[in-house]
Parts: sequence; C-alpha cells; structure tokens
Amino acid sequence: MGLVRVSEILKMADKAKTSVIAFNSSDFNMIHSVFTVAEELNKPALVMLDPRHAALWGWGTPEVYAKMCIEEASRVKVPVSFHLDHCSDYDFIMRCLKAGFPSVMYDGSMLSYDDNVRNTRAVARVAHAMGADVEAELGHVGFAATETDQDDLDLYTKVDVAARFCEESLCDSLAIAIGTAHGFYKKTPKLDLERLQAIDAAVETPLVLHGGSGVPDDQLEKAFTMGINKFNVGTEYFYLYYQVVKEYVAAGNEDIFNMQLLVQERLMDYLRKKMQLCTMTVTSPVSLSERPLPALRTGVPQGGVL
Ligand code: 13P
Repeated sequence: MGLVRVSEILKMADKAKTSVIAFNSSDFNMIHSVFTVAEELNKPALVMLDPRHAALWGWGTPEVYAKMCIEEASRVKVPVSFHLDHCSDYDFIMRCLKAGFPSVMYDGSMLSYDDNVRNTRAVARVAHAMGADVEAELGHVGFAATETDQDDLDLYTKVDVAARFCEESLCDSLAIAIGTAHGFYKKTPKLDLERLQAIDAAVETPLVLHGGSGVPDDQLEKAFTMGINKFNVGTEYFYLYYQVVKEYVAAGNEDIFNMQLLVQERLMDYLRKKMQLCTMTVTSPVSLSERPLPALRTGVPQGGVL
C-alpha cells in the first residue's frame, strides 16, 4: 500500500468512525518511527512538516522531506502519507506541492472570512490540479500557553458558516476550533463536543483537531466518533525526543549512533500507545486513489495568485 492520498485515508477513517493520527515530525527518526509503528499495528498514519522547521534542512527542505517520506512509505504495506502543516506562505506551499507533497494546509484562520476563502481556494485550485489535498482552518486554534485561547468562544468555529466555507474554499478537510490549543496545556482542555456534532452534521468535509498534546483520551475517543477524522499531535512527540536525548547525555553517554537508536525505540513505545486511539485496522487491501500520486510533480504555476 504505502503512500496514499490523505483524502483517501480520511475517507477510510470517516467510514470507520475514527481518526487517523498525524504527528509533526522533523527528522528521519521521527518519520521512520511513525511509519514503522503504523505497519506494526496495521493502522494508517500521517507525518507532518511544520514550516517553522523548514530552515533545519536548508533550502531543499520540501524536496528532501518529500523524498524521505516517499522512500519510507514505499517500505510499508499500510496506507501512510505526509502533509505540510500550518502554512500561509503561498510560495512555500507551491514548493512543497512541486516537491511531491500529497497534502498541504493553507492556514488563513487569522484572516477575515472572505480572505480566508479566497486564499484557500487559490491554493486548492493548484493543489487539486496536481492531485493533492488541502486542509483549511475556520475559527482559530490558538496557543495553550495563553491559558485563555482554548476557552475563547470568539475563536471557536461557528457552526452556521462552516458549510458555506467548505463549499466556497474548496478545502478537502477542515481544522476546527472547539476547545484545543497548541503546546502544553496549563489547564486541562474541555472539548465542545456539542459544537463538534453540530459542525459534523452541517458539513460533509472531514474534520481535523489540532493541539493534540495533553487532550485526555476519553474526550478524544468521543470526538473521534463524532466526526474528527484527523488528529494532530506535535509538542508531546518533540518533547519526548528531547527528554530521551537529555537523559542519555546526563547519564554520561557519548555514542550518538546509539543515542539515535534509543530515540527511535522510545518514540516507538510512545507511538504504540498513542496510535491505539485510532480504532481502525487495515484488514484488507485498500484501493489506491483514482489519481495515483506521481513521485515528483513539475509545472507548478509560478507567481502570486493571492
Ligand atoms: P500540539 O503541538 O499541541 O500537539 O499540536 C499539534 C498541532 O496541532 C499541529 O498542527
């Protein structure tokens, strides 16, 4: 199976009334661990590049990241894929699509409704022509460190505009704000499940939950059966990596190769537990998209459509 369109995986999750889990991953150890555990558990999984990490891999980040994911995906039999997380830089999104990203997020959540629609649509037109998918955000998932963003109803996704937004923006999935925020929580989040149910009833588009680190499992289990089909986790995955390295060095170890093997081992232990939240297993071969992904895409229209 290997690399599959993200929209295909979200469709499978929707049918199974669960969510695929998408992990922010910035290097080989993180990507390899996600795809390895997905294969082991017979579950789909996604990795995501945070554009803030683009500088880590120099100018060629989209190309190197895409090649690494495509190569790693080719080694597994379960459906996996990769995605560009939160990005509002049109040129960088175009570079990622050209490099072979099967899915990108255009984040216009801080813009007016009209600007968010217009920009998401501009990205979606190019992405769709290239056989790729687009995630949009309506409402705004803020930062847990503020302590107020997660409870700020003004930032929450409005049920009455969600359907129109999906139709007008041409997005393939929609990130919604229902009580989560990015980063470590200072107080336990409480998901607005009623709002989730109402949005799910109003739109056909698969829904995405951001700010996944530290959301209690019982709330996630409910949210996944109520319409969340993609669940993003970053902070806790990165923090675990940091903790393993810190402990390794503090214990006086100096072998950097063994350190990376240990990092992978510990990341995989975490992933085995986290991925249990996705209740679906892939029991039979899943058909590939009608439009299989080319390994590399060329001919992206250049210049500012926005
Ligand atoms: P956390 O870093 O809070 O887990 O959120 C990840 C996320 O939503 C990425 O889009």
